[in-house]
Amino acid sequence: MTDAIEFNAELIRRYDKAGPRYTSYPTAVEFHHGFTADTYAQHIALSNQRGGPLSLYFHVPFCDTVCFYCACNKIITKNRQHAQPYLENLYEEIRMQAELFDTNRVVEQLHWGGGTPTFLTHQQMRELMAQTRKYFTLADDDKGEFSIEIDPREADDATIKLLRELGFNRISLGLQDFNPKVQKAVNRIQTEEQTFSILDAARREGFRSISLDLIYGLPHQTVESFSDTLDKVIAASPDRLSVFNYAHMPELFKTQRQIATADIPPPQVKLQILHRTIDKLTAAGYVYIGMDHFAKPDDELTLAQQNKQLYRNFQGYSTRAECDLIGLGVTSIGKVGDAYVQNVKTLPEYDEAIKAGKLPVLRGVELDEDDKCRRDIITRLICDFALDIPAIEKAYQINFNDYFADAIADLEQFAQDGLLQYKWDSIEVLPAGRLLIRNICMVFDKYSQQARQRFSKVI
Ligand SMILES: C[S@@+](CC[C@H](N)C(=O)[O-])C[C@H]1O[C@@H](n2cnc3c(N)ncnc32)[C@H](O)[C@@H]1O
Ligand code: SF4
Repeated sequence: MTDAIEFNAELIRRYDKAGPRYTSYPTAVEFHHGFTADTYAQHIALSNQRGGPLSLYFHVPFCDTVCFYCACNKIITKNRQHAQPYLENLYEEIRMQAELFDTNRVVEQLHWGGGTPTFLTHQQMRELMAQTRKYFTLADDDKGEFSIEIDPREADDATIKLLRELGFNRISLGLQDFNPKVQKAVNRIQTEEQTFSILDAARREGFRSISLDLIYGLPHQTVESFSDTLDKVIAASPDRLSVFNYAHMPELFKTQRQIATADIPPPQVKLQILHRTIDKLTAAGYVYIGMDHFAKPDDELTLAQQNKQLYRNFQGYSTRAECDLIGLGVTSIGKVGDAYVQNVKTLPEYDEAIKAGKLPVLRGVELDEDDKCRRDIITRLICDFALDIPAIEKAYQINFNDYFADAIADLEQFAQDGLLQYKWDSIEVLPAGRLLIRNICMVFDKYSQQARQRFSKVI
């Protein structure tokens, strides 16, 4: 699979512009406040008629210390007591949502994200899972995909053992970079020992898939320093790797102001780091899945991609087809039928809604036929690096060339530049186009003009 990705610095430079990550289409910026808890309930009723499996996402927003680069939805607190009232509300939300869903529908996918889910005490984690099982039907262990994000600084062997007991079978560990100077500059001091002992514990406990998060573009990183981190990571042989591009947007994320812009590697160095990363990971046998993700050739993610059964959701790539996704907790996003819904973002708003007996819906969006068609196209391109045009024409009763007349000129330009092959019945993304898949998807994004101004750069 080494030919699956080709690094072409000239093309990347030319095409590098702001773009969404397409964990949803339309993206969250299109969500609006006209979408209320009532609209959500209507979509749940429709989805119950269709049936099918469910996916649950729980947001645990707390972290003990702040990492300056962080763009996640989190609340920094040393006070562990803060979690309990939040959990009481979360249990209430589980109950309220379960009341609306047909709870015979099996939960095939479950994810705890954050923030830092293991900020919770063992007892709290047990209780959260017990409350979930009380109201929903979870798939038997090896039939479900139950995952959790772990900060190795906030976990030990006993935590990992407990999580396995609770039913988790996948784990992703935040690492970012091992270099001490980089760690200091981003306020995340994390030893190799801390990281790898958690990875070993997860293996011992039988977690099916272990993933590590890295970030490139952090302050003081060089090609050599990041290469050292990669060597250590490759030696530990995780099943999957996410290598995120650091998006420095201090005007949006306050704590990023603690990072001196002058310490951030310039674009040409970031490109070299990315280049080296791809070379090293592919040489070590990892397959480039797409966007920021790499996986071993026998990992389910790789196999799903080969079988054209890969999907994309808010947690990134997934092997589960169209589950309805229920988001629980502050800021969580759900996808039910043809709608996306997001919860309120602050603890006081969340508390107020739950105490008033209301679902804490902040906003959302209902998809029309055009959105659905575009979403399908973007999903197939980002997951398969290919598009079956007649299949789209049949599903949406359109003539592709007429319907997407505006996109054709861009596609032809991409084809001329060697990013893709465009024929009457297919689009095939070529190795040189894979790193620029967001740009290719943007051609089909009706909202991309606004989106271009708001999102981070692609590389
Ligand atoms: C919720 S955190 C993972 C769990 C845990 N809080 C931790 O840090 O270990 C999700 C991941 O998002 C990535 N991330 C956070 N902020 C980012 C940023 N500004 N740019 C790129 N990646 C970022 C990091 O790799 C991080 O591990
Ligand atoms: S990277 Fe993880 S631990 Fe660090 S602030 Fe963000 S969510 Fe918290």
